[in-house]
Amino acid sequence: EDGGPQPEKHCGHGRGGMGEEVKRKEDQRFITGRGNYVDDIKKPGMLHCEIVRSPHAHARIENIDKSRALDVDGVVAVLTAEDLLEYDLATMPTLMDDTQDVLVNDKVKFQSQEVAAVIATDRYTAKDGAEKVVVDYDVLDPVVDAEKALEDDAPLIRDDIEGQEDNHCLDWETGDEEATARVFDDAPVTVKEQMLYQRLHPAPIETCGAVGDFDPGKDKLTVHMTSQAPHIHRTLFSQVSGIPEHKVRIVSPDVGGGFGNKVPIYPGYVVAAAASYVLEQPVKWVEERSENIQSTGFARDYDMQGELAATEDGEILAVRTDVLADHGAYNAVAQPSKFPAGFFNIFTGSYDVDTAYGTLTAAYTNTAPGGVAYRCSFRVTEAVYLIERMVKVLADELEMDPAEIRRKNFIQPDQFPYESPTGWNYDSGDYEKALDLALEMADYDDYREEQQRRIEEDADKLLGIGISSFTEVVGAGPGKTCDIAGVEMFDSAEIRVHPTGNATVRVGVQTQGQGHETTFAQIVAEELGMDVDDITVEHGDTDTDPYGLGTYGSRSTPVAGAAAAVASRKVREKAKAIAANELEAAEADITWDRESGEFHVAGAPDRSISITEIAAGAYMNKPAGEDPGLEAVNYYDPPEMTYPFGSYIVIVEIDRETGEVEFEKFVAVDDCGNRINPMIIEGQIHGGLAQGIGTAMMEHVTFDDNGNVTGGDFMNYLLPTSMEIPEFETGHTVTPSPHHPIGAKGVGESPTVGSPPAIVNAVVDAMAHGGISHVEMPMTPDVVWEKLDEAGLAM
Ligand code: CDP
Repeated sequence: EDGGPQPEKHCGHGRGGMGEEVKRKEDQRFITGRGNYVDDIKKPGMLHCEIVRSPHAHARIENIDKSRALDVDGVVAVLTAEDLLEYDLATMPTLMDDTQDVLVNDKVKFQSQEVAAVIATDRYTAKDGAEKVVVDYDVLDPVVDAEKALEDDAPLIRDDIEGQEDNHCLDWETGDEEATARVFDDAPVTVKEQMLYQRLHPAPIETCGAVGDFDPGKDKLTVHMTSQAPHIHRTLFSQVSGIPEHKVRIVSPDVGGGFGNKVPIYPGYVVAAAASYVLEQPVKWVEERSENIQSTGFARDYDMQGELAATEDGEILAVRTDVLADHGAYNAVAQPSKFPAGFFNIFTGSYDVDTAYGTLTAAYTNTAPGGVAYRCSFRVTEAVYLIERMVKVLADELEMDPAEIRRKNFIQPDQFPYESPTGWNYDSGDYEKALDLALEMADYDDYREEQQRRIEEDADKLLGIGISSFTEVVGAGPGKTCDIAGVEMFDSAEIRVHPTGNATVRVGVQTQGQGHETTFAQIVAEELGMDVDDITVEHGDTDTDPYGLGTYGSRSTPVAGAAAAVASRKVREKAKAIAANELEAAEADITWDRESGEFHVAGAPDRSISITEIAAGAYMNKPAGEDPGLEAVNYYDPPEMTYPFGSYIVIVEIDRETGEVEFEKFVAVDDCGNRINPMIIEGQIHGGLAQGIGTAMMEHVTFDDNGNVTGGDFMNYLLPTSMEIPEFETGHTVTPSPHHPIGAKGVGESPTVGSPPAIVNAVVDAMAHGGISHVEMPMTPDVVWEKLDEAGLAM
C-alpha cells in the first residue's frame, strides 16, 4: 500500500525500525549469565545418559555384555539396539531418506558410532557405567577415502541396503553436456584445476544435547533439544515414534551456535527421548566436544575438478565441473530433498555464462555421516569456491588482472532477473559496484605496485592480493522446489497486539545467536509504527509458535522476515478500520504514514492515531461488524530465493622462510539488499569471516587408514582464535530484492561462503609469478612452504 521501506531512506524514525542499530535485546540475558541452554535444564528426578561409542570404524558387533555396567551403583538401565527394536526405534530416517542406526544393531560403520546407552542417576555414574559395557567386535577393513571406496576391491559398507553391491551413493548432473563439450572443443583458451574443499566441522560452542521428558499423565513427550528446526523435528519425532504429533512438543531453548550442525536428528536425541518414554523419567543427554566433532554432521568434503573455456581476452564461454563427494556412512546430508547436490548448481557464480555442465558422484565411506550446510545454503560454498578459484586460474593463464576479468564477465544490473545456464533465477545484483567499492577500500592499485616492487627486489616477504566476487543463494523455498521430508519450505510469523499497545511476535525460525529477538521486532516496529522495545519475539516452542522450517541457509530474513512483514501489514489493514472508527472518518480516507508510524485522516494531518491507541480501540471500542482483537499470522512461501552478493579483497604477506601467511588487509563489501540492523549485520560478517579464515588456514577433519579420526578434538582440529583474526574493513552496497516484501536478502552466511576463495586467491597470487596455480586448504605453513619450494621462492 505504501510501497514498503525504501533502501537506506527508512533509517532514523527513532523507533528501532529498519536500518537502525538497535542493541541486541537478547544480550541482556547472555552477558549476565542468564541464558537458558539445554544443559541448564534440570527436572525433578532427571536421569543422565552416556553413549557407548565404537572405537572401530568398521566392525561387526558379536556381543554386548551389559552386566558389569548394570552392577554400578546408580546405573538405572543400559540400552542397546535390541531394546530399541521392541519399540521400533532401533533405526531412524536421515534427512535424505536413508536409514541410520540409532544404536548399532549389526555393523559399525564409522568410528564413534553409537553402540549402547547407559542411563544413570548422574552424569559421572553414567560415564562410569559406559566404561563397563563390554562389546565384542569382529573388526573389518575400513575405507575412509571416497576415491578408494569406489574401487572394485573396496570393502562394502552398506550391506544393509538391499541390492547394494558397492559404495556408490548417488549421481547427479546439471546443465547441457553436449553443448558444453562443443564450446570447450572450440574455445581458444581452456583451464583446468583440481581442488579439495576439505572436510570441516561446524563446531558450535554448545555441543548437541537433549532432555527427553515423557509425561505419562498427559501421554505427552516433550523434548528440549539443541535444534535449528524444532517444527520439522517434531514431525519427524512423531513419524518415527508413532506418538501423534500433537502429543509431541519440541522446545529449543537458547542455542549456542548451530551453523548447520543442529539441523539433522542425531541418535543421542532419540535415545534421550526413548529412554524417558521407557523409564517414565526425564533423561538428559549432552555431548562432549570430541563426540560432537567425531559423530555429528560434518561439512563439505567435495573433491572438485573445475574447467573454464574462454576467449583470449578473457570472456568466459563455459564452465564445467566434476565432483567426487564423500557422504560418510549414511546419506544424511541436510538439504532440501529435491536437490541431491544442494544448491551446487550455482557454480557459474556472478558471471554471465551461457553454457555449463556439472556432474557429481557421491560415495559411502567409513566416516561419520554429514554434508551439512555449515553456515551456507546446501553446497553453495563449494560452488562459490570452485568458480572464484577458477576465475583466478583463468586470469593468471591470460596474465590478466583478476579484477578486470571479473568486471568483463559480470552479469549486468539490467540483466536481472537473470536465469543461469543451470536454471536458477537471480533476483537482483550490481556486482561491479560492490567490486569497485572493495577495490577502493583496499587501495588495490597501490598494493599491486607494492607487490611488483617486492618481486623485483627479491624481498623476504611476498605480497598476494586475492579477490572473491561471490553470489549467494539463500532463503529456501519456494515450497515447490524445496522441502524436508515432504514438508514444503515456507516460514511463518504471528503477531498479537495486546490491549495496552505492545505486542508478542512468534516466528517459525530458530535463532542460534543471530539476534532474531531484535531484528524481527525491528521489522514489526517498522511496519506498525511501534517502538521496538514494545515488541517481544518468541521462537523455539512447537506448542505455541506457528509451524516453520527452521533457521539454516540464511533463510530467516528472506522467508520468516517476509512473513513478519506480511503479518504486520495484515494487522495494519485491520488497524485502519479501527483508526477510522476512532477518528470518526471513512476508512477510505485513512492513510498510514511510515515516517510517523501513525494513521491520518487524508487532508487533515493533525487528526492522527498511533498503534497503541488503535490497540485499545480493538479491545475496548471495536467498530460494529469487526471482530475484537488485533492479530495476524502469515505463512510465507517465497516466490524465489534471494541472491545476496559481495566482493572481498584479501591482502596477505607470505614469509618465504617459514611459509607463514599474515593478513595485511581484509576488506569485505556485502550487499544483502535492505538492511534491518547494520550493527547485527556487521557482527554476522565478522563471525563468518573468522570461520572463513579457519576454513582456509587451519581446519580439517582427517582420518588415518584404520579409520581413526585424527582431527577429532580441539587439540587437532584447529579453530582460529582472536590471535589469528585480523582487523576487518567492512563496506556495503544496497540492491534490494524485488520480490521480498521489505527488499531484504539474507546475510549470515555470505562471509563464510565468500571469504575462503579470496584468501586462497591471495596466497596463490603471491606465488603466481613462480607458476603456482593452486594451494589446497587448509593453508598451514608447511603446505605453503612446499608450494614456495616448488615455485623456487622458498628461502
Ligand atoms: O537465517 P539466519 O538468521 O542465520 O540468517 P539471516 O537471515 O541472514 O540473518 C542473520 C541476522 O542478520 C539476523 O538477525 C537478521 O535479521 C540480520 N539481517 C539484517 O539485519 N538485514 C538483512 N538484510 C539480513 C539479515
